[in-house]
Amino acid sequence: MQAQRVLPPGVGLASSSIGKKVIMAVTGLIWIGFVVFHMYGNLKIFWGPEYFNEYSSGLRYLGGPIFGHTHLLWVARLVLILAIVLHVWAAVSLYQRARTARPRSYEMHRTLQANYAAITIRYGGAVIFFFVLYHLMHLTWGVPVIHDQFHHGDAYSNVLYGFQKIHNVIIYTIAVIALGLHLYHGTWSMFQTLGVNNRNSDRLVRGLALALALIVPLGFIIVPYSILFGFVS
Ligand code: HEM
Repeated sequence: MQAQRVLPPGVGLASSSIGKKVIMAVTGLIWIGFVVFHMYGNLKIFWGPEYFNEYSSGLRYLGGPIFGHTHLLWVARLVLILAIVLHVWAAVSLYQRARTARPRSYEMHRTLQANYAAITIRYGGAVIFFFVLYHLMHLTWGVPVIHDQFHHGDAYSNVLYGFQKIHNVIIYTIAVIALGLHLYHGTWSMFQTLGVNNRNSDRLVRGLALALALIVPLGFIIVPYSILFGFVS
């Protein structure tokens, strides 16, 4: 008789397909929370430099006086980094599992719609990942080849100068379109995985996914275009 392999409970769940889908849903939800607050926070640019810079430096004092300077911010950053690593890992391993399990002929017969969703999720996810790296080099670290007028502690003028360059506005436009598509399909699948979606709630879930996929990208992209066209200066 073959000995049964016993895995610790958490490891067993994480290695199953449903476990990986739950990991994708929970880590996706963490990032949804972040992008909604980040988008809302960015809109403070319309209130002027003092207000925006106060918000930006306020992030570093988050949780004070209980937490020290940048301590809670670092906790949030570590949670976000862990969430993205797990999200990508679960996505890649679910994709590989589906490829090995599925015969080629079936793949050919998949509906166009399913293909479209899978492609926007997969390539869109990669676009967002590389965009976040570019974005950090641009507005957080101020890497000179990407931002040659970066001043630490002056987020307002960094953003202003950054979006007076049309190539940045184009890069951010592509990224927020990818984000919108990813949010639409991702939010819908997240509800499926978490069991919220059923026949009765399908329209509501699709509506929520669509609202998120429109509001978040529009809220983000209004900032670069307002700067490019001189409404914020
Ligand atoms: C037009 C849209 C955006 C603008 C104007 C913007 C602006 C900024 C600024 C100014 C910072 C630096 C804050 C500081 O250090 O004081 C920042 C950080 C960041 N942004 Fe954005 N952002 C935009 C879109 C996005 C998107 C779409 C994402 C993710 C999908 C994102 C993810 C991040 C992350 C992860 C950080 C680093 C936060 C930290 O660790 O301090 N941003 N953003």
